Amino acid sequence: MAIDRRTNYRPSIYVLLLMMVAALIGIPGYYIRNVNIFSPSPQQIGDVLSAINIYNLSKDIDIPSNKTHDDDGTNGTKVIMFWTTWYGSKMWFNLPKSALGRSLFQRKYCKHTNCILTNNHSRLKEADVLLFYFTDRPNWPTIRYPQQYYGHFIHEAPGGRSRTFLDNYEGKINLTINFRHDADVYVPYNTFFRRLTSIPYKPRVPLAMKTKMAVWPVSHCKTSSRREDYVKELSKYIDVDIVGACGPYKCKRSKSHECRIQWEKTYKFYLSFENNICDDYITEKLLKTLEYEIIPIVLGGGNYTNDAPPHSLINVLDFSSPKSLADYLIELGKNETRYYDYFKWKSDYEMANIDSVMMCRLCDGLHEGRFPHRPASRHYADYWFGLHGERCDNGLMSRLKKRF
Ligand SMILES: *[C@@H]1O[C@H](CO)[C@@H](O)[C@H](O)[C@H]1NC(C)=O
Ligand SMILES: *[C@@H]1O[C@H](CO)[C@@H](O)[C@H](O)[C@H]1NC(C)=O
Ligand SMILES: *[C@@H]1O[C@H](CO)[C@@H](O)[C@H](O)[C@H]1NC(C)=O
Ligand SMILES: *[C@@H]1O[C@H](CO)[C@@H](O)[C@H](O)[C@H]1NC(C)=O
Ligand SMILES: *[C@@H]1O[C@H](CO)[C@@H](O)[C@H](O)[C@H]1NC(C)=O
Ligand SMILES: *[C@@H]1O[C@H](CO)[C@@H](O)[C@H](O)[C@H]1NC(C)=O
Ligand SMILES: *[C@@H]1O[C@H](CO)[C@@H](O)[C@H](O)[C@H]1NC(C)=O
Repeated sequence: MAIDRRTNYRPSIYVLLLMMVAALIGIPGYYIRNVNIFSPSPQQIGDVLSAINIYNLSKDIDIPSNKTHDDDGTNGTKVIMFWTTWYGSKMWFNLPKSALGRSLFQRKYCKHTNCILTNNHSRLKEADVLLFYFTDRPNWPTIRYPQQYYGHFIHEAPGGRSRTFLDNYEGKINLTINFRHDADVYVPYNTFFRRLTSIPYKPRVPLAMKTKMAVWPVSHCKTSSRREDYVKELSKYIDVDIVGACGPYKCKRSKSHECRIQWEKTYKFYLSFENNICDDYITEKLLKTLEYEIIPIVLGGGNYTNDAPPHSLINVLDFSSPKSLADYLIELGKNETRYYDYFKWKSDYEMANIDSVMMCRLCDGLHEGRFPHRPASRHYADYWFGLHGERCDNGLMSRLKKRF
């Protein structure tokens, strides 16, 4: 008995000692290597996730297919590899495992289907593109093959961060993947296609039911764009209900969909103001709103004429002042015909998932030789922020305020 106990005991003491040593050396070492000092808040993750997951991943859409017949393999299969994780997951965007392989490239909005998506690092040598997620500090591959692109995906505005967040990537990246039109792979949050056949659009909510003017869900009360100053002035002329950290109304993040359903039945307008005014930066704040029957009012650095469905929103910058915007909203809010004209686009256009759009554009670009062969940029931060930060215009509000 005693002997048995002792023999049982000894290993567990060693295990305990080992664990203590591991705790003292190994585990902190592990964390120091892997902790991401730029780790995003759960809220940022939530925003991205809900923007990406809003559209049913397995849904295909009613658009003309542009498929080419290059899938006999003459141009070779292109291999696209997730190199970093996405918030710790080997599947970016929370994609299901079934998205590995060819399935994403079979979507109608891909011209080419002869691509493979993988996250298996053992296939490094075959990969045409390695994908790096913007805040991740990667373990770089030990060999860099000359045919490979290192593609870096960013979906956040340059305005929100210090330049140093790109230090790790200087001299590494030769394929840019982001929401800017000048990116090698242009991946906006709001991608829309013209439908093959129009569908009739019937309003769900009668205007008479919407008894309130505007809702503004917001969690950052003070921002670089100073959007809060505009809202303050606008509230002198119309009621704006502020939901979240900066106002009296609340909506739990997990209830985002339920809240929006409620808001579309209560409010006429929804403020989708960006927290940074940067080139082409239009986010899920607009994308999500377009799914509902509430007119978005936008403030941002994007070209909304070009980059959103036609007549789908109201742009602050089209008005000389908050007062003239308010006058317009009051008039529009009284006229059912004109109000519902803002949803007519839904007959002719459909929004698409950004994850599959990104994969299609990568695959098509590789097959069509659209990405120039070139060495990695040594001035990647300059590209992203502008040499003097000119990719964002945070002086916009002080110019606008001259008209208040
Ligand atoms: C997503 O779309 C597929 C195909 O149209 C459909 O079978 C499935 O039920 C949809 N899922 C959800 C959650 O709407
Ligand atoms: C198909 O090709 C046409 C002509 O190049 C283009 O205008 C259209 O946007 C493409 N459709 C898709 C879904 O990419
Ligand atoms: C990863 O790729 C290697 C080499 O092709 C293969 O042997 C291995 O089974 C793959 N692993 C998984 C999990 O698919
Ligand atoms: C937006 O894009 C359209 C079409 O490319 C262009 O005509 C217009 O000048 C652009 N507007 C702004 C504000 O850049
Ligand atoms: C609503 O707007 C339409 C189109 O501008 C106009 O013809 C109509 O007279 C307006 N109705 C009311 C009640 O003002
Ligand atoms: C094959 O690739 C080349 C360049 O990489 C491209 O010019 C050509 O159009 C591609 N052929 C097909 C059928 O896609
Ligand atoms: C990408 O950049 C690396 C490093 O400069 C270079 O070795 C590689 O050939 C480039 N890849 C392509 C496809 O141009």
